[in-house]
Amino acid sequence: MSVVVYAPASTANVSVGFDSLGAALSPIDGQLLGDRVLVEAASGDDVIIENVGPYAHKLPADPKQNILYDCYHYFVKQYAEHHSKVLGCVKMTLEKNLPIGSGLGSSACSVVAALEGLNAYLDSPFNKEQMLIMMGELEGQISGSVHYDNVAPCYLGGMQLMLQEAGVTSQAIPHFEDWYWIVAYPGINISTAQARSILPAQYRRQDTLEFGRNLAGFVHASYSKQPELAAALLKDNIVAEPYRAKLIPGFDEVRSYAAQSGALASGISGSGPTVYIVTPVLEQAERTKAWLEQHFIQNEDGFCHVCKIDEQGTRVTGTSL
Ligand code: HSE
Repeated sequence: MSVVVYAPASTANVSVGFDSLGAALSPIDGQLLGDRVLVEAASGDDVIIENVGPYAHKLPADPKQNILYDCYHYFVKQYAEHHSKVLGCVKMTLEKNLPIGSGLGSSACSVVAALEGLNAYLDSPFNKEQMLIMMGELEGQISGSVHYDNVAPCYLGGMQLMLQEAGVTSQAIPHFEDWYWIVAYPGINISTAQARSILPAQYRRQDTLEFGRNLAGFVHASYSKQPELAAALLKDNIVAEPYRAKLIPGFDEVRSYAAQSGALASGISGSGPTVYIVTPVLEQAERTKAWLEQHFIQNEDGFCHVCKIDEQGTRVTGTSL
């Protein structure tokens, strides 16, 4: 018995919805932009963990320091508490395809793929809402605070709005299906904890009012299918971007390029350093990608993809890597 689960990259905040909005991403050329986890039966006293893939060498050598180790033990505890059952020993192989500290929901990707891998391996004893809570909790342990804006889109797909009331953690809102999201990772790393620590503890009243108006307006424009209005509201001059921009070399040039090239919007993906630019025109998306590769990417670790929003979210893809 074995199962492989794929979890896509995600862009959190989407500028206008700090900690409240996130979208799953899928490159239009069919490349994998996300992690995969293989769960298979094994014997022994503890989970066996192996890392493979392009970013495996960036993970801690000690398996007990691996996110999957925490995922396994957390899941075992929940399984025992909720279902009074014992999960035997398994081997978990993480194919680490996303760079860590990139702003593409890398840790969320591993957490979601690992937990959903265990859930699928056991024929889904937990429902989606329960899984999401567990994913958020583990992601919170890593980044220093519980926020669902990576795990929810990564797990459920689409453009997700965090609700966190009345037993509803997150729900999908409509998105503009013709928009291309060009994401560029420059090749340097920024930890989410660090990028959160530089934000102000408090904001001015007029700024919180504007923040609420922008987010409500964006959600309204998404429902009422007004792309120009939605794009105009896709911005963050309040909560995070003004503070985080200085952590990202070349960010101001990206913003200027996006504006003069006629893009709909641009901003920081999650806590950075990945940036995103939105356009509905494929030819412009390809030109933007070429510009970002030439002017924004700093080293051979960097990359750029033209993406659409991934509707599916996390899925079982087979039984072997
Ligand atoms: N909303 C979070 C932040 C996402 O911007 O800190 C981090 O991936």
